[in-house]
Amino acid sequence: MSGKPVLHHRIPAQRYADAFTLRPVERPPEGPGIQLYYDEDGMALAHGDGRRLFRLRLDRIKTRASQSLLLARACGAGKCPSVADLYAGWGTDGLSLALKGCAVTLVERSPLVWALLDDLVARHALPATVVSGEAGSWCLGQRKGVDVAYLDPMFPPRRKHALPDQSMQLLRELAEPDGLGLAERLEQARAAARQRVVVKRRIHDPAVGRPAWQLRGGRIRFDVYRA
Ligand SMILES: C[S@@+](CC[C@H](N)C(=O)[O-])C[C@H]1O[C@@H](n2cnc3c(N)ncnc32)[C@H](O)[C@@H]1O
Repeated sequence: MSGKPVLHHRIPAQRYADAFTLRPVERPPEGPGIQLYYDEDGMALAHGDGRRLFRLRLDRIKTRASQSLLLARACGAGKCPSVADLYAGWGTDGLSLALKGCAVTLVERSPLVWALLDDLVARHALPATVVSGEAGSWCLGQRKGVDVAYLDPMFPPRRKHALPDQSMQLLRELAEPDGLGLAERLEQARAAARQRVVVKRRIHDPAVGRPAWQLRGGRIRFDVYRA
């Protein structure tokens, strides 16, 4: 029995044969938990009561790209650098940078999250490379191979706050805690980047070490470190 996660597919899924155990189906899988499902509309997560389908949407990312001026400034996107987004998640930040002309590599550890992101990028021929893997291992192979490394670690959930939207709830369920402290991750990112490392933080979170400069938004902040 393979330890690979299962991909339920209605259409051929050979592209994903190395990463998943392929299971042909006619309709979205029933059953508990979050399951991966692939059909004519792309990769999806079947989840919750009634097996709702969650899919990534390019229009949302495009809207976000037009709003993400602070992230673009923090990464120096005007000069179209190469950027490694080491905690890619749903790709909203990384693809915003790609749509602004940066050469972006998206690194994501969760296989299910990676599958949705990979399908979105392939389906729309977006200008980004999607890597299924762990940030530290990827950085080891780089040695100053990119201009900018970007880190958006999962913020701890806050008590007494409204539930995050569905995409963040699913990401929280799928993403295991990183397991490495942010200071150590920052050093790995520095070893991979030639120019700078950008870390997204909640506005009142303490900085890790001493950033060269900070850009502040309403609720979040970007700490920028020289590489
Ligand atoms: C807060 S989310 C990133 C959200 C992303 N910036 C976006 O715009 O959607 C953090 C992501 O990092 C991933 N992650 C956590 N530890 C990782 C690691 N060591 N290597 C690669 N990815 C990791 C999680 O699976 C999760 O998808």
